[in-house]
Amino acid sequence: MKIFTEKTQIQKTIKQIKTKDLSIGFVPTMGALHQGHLSLVEEAFKNNDVVIVSIFVNPTQFDNKEDLKKYPRTLEADTHLLASLNKDIIVYAPTVIDIYGTNTIAEHFSFDGLEFEMEGKFRTGHFDGVGTIVKRLFEIVKPDYAYFGKKDFQQLTIIKKLVEKHQIPVTIVGCDIFRETNGLAMSSRNVRLKKDYKQAAPFIYKTLKAAKKKFGTKSANKVIEWVENEFSKHKLLTLEYVIIADEETLKPVKRKTKNKTYRAFIAVYADDIRLIDNIALN
Ligand code: PAJ
Repeated sequence: MKIFTEKTQIQKTIKQIKTKDLSIGFVPTMGALHQGHLSLVEEAFKNNDVVIVSIFVNPTQFDNKEDLKKYPRTLEADTHLLASLNKDIIVYAPTVIDIYGTNTIAEHFSFDGLEFEMEGKFRTGHFDGVGTIVKRLFEIVKPDYAYFGKKDFQQLTIIKKLVEKHQIPVTIVGCDIFRETNGLAMSSRNVRLKKDYKQAAPFIYKTLKAAKKKFGTKSANKVIEWVENEFSKHKLLTLEYVIIADEETLKPVKRKTKNKTYRAFIAVYADDIRLIDNIALN
């Protein structure tokens, strides 16, 4: 398996791939890889001749220094896991210097308001950081297709907007959320959950599924109230927000309209670990 840490090196390889007219599928990650990430890689192999996975804990998208410090970094295990899936995967695991030079700051983007909803309200500057790194990675990797999980649905929507606004020649593919058998959405942060919290965390998806059922007969507000009440009774999990939003605009739904699709989004603290999840409602 080829592992690159410098953009000048991987760019040479990418040039060769391009001259052979092979298609590139790209999966950007922050490492601490799990089955959810691998499902994106598998999806990439279905459509492309070459698959590139980036592993980079991007400092500019963390609004919380402690979270950045504690973010799991397991490059060796990650590369082994990828190699066990397919030895031909190309890994790009750059240093902060390679991406940012000595100026580790985010560019500022407008995503037509998408960035001010949900995660944008609670994580200031987060999507400027995500936009900065993804745009730079696209410039280096020049993928034909790039794969993002619906686990971070707002991120996926924002990346589609980034590509549209900056006319980046890549097709963005959204992939389904990969879950543990108990329903908990897989996340690199799950490894930090202490036993009690790990046992409690599947409550998040269980509640989302029940909310989906209720959304068939009840208003969005009533469903939200119900979810809030469920979490207020929970001893270990603290609800940060639950929102039912239009999938396209990510704006909270006031009244249900035919031909619109809705999704419930949730952010929950389990101890000091922030977990997010979402579910399609129709
Ligand atoms: P990271 O959290 O490592 O996730 C990398 C990709 O894997 C994202 O597209 C995310 O949505 C997807 N993913 C994570 N858990 C998943 C699951 N359980 N099911 C399906 N897909 C899942 O998201 C990021 O990194 C960063 O913000 C990044 C885009 C790499 C920019 O730094």
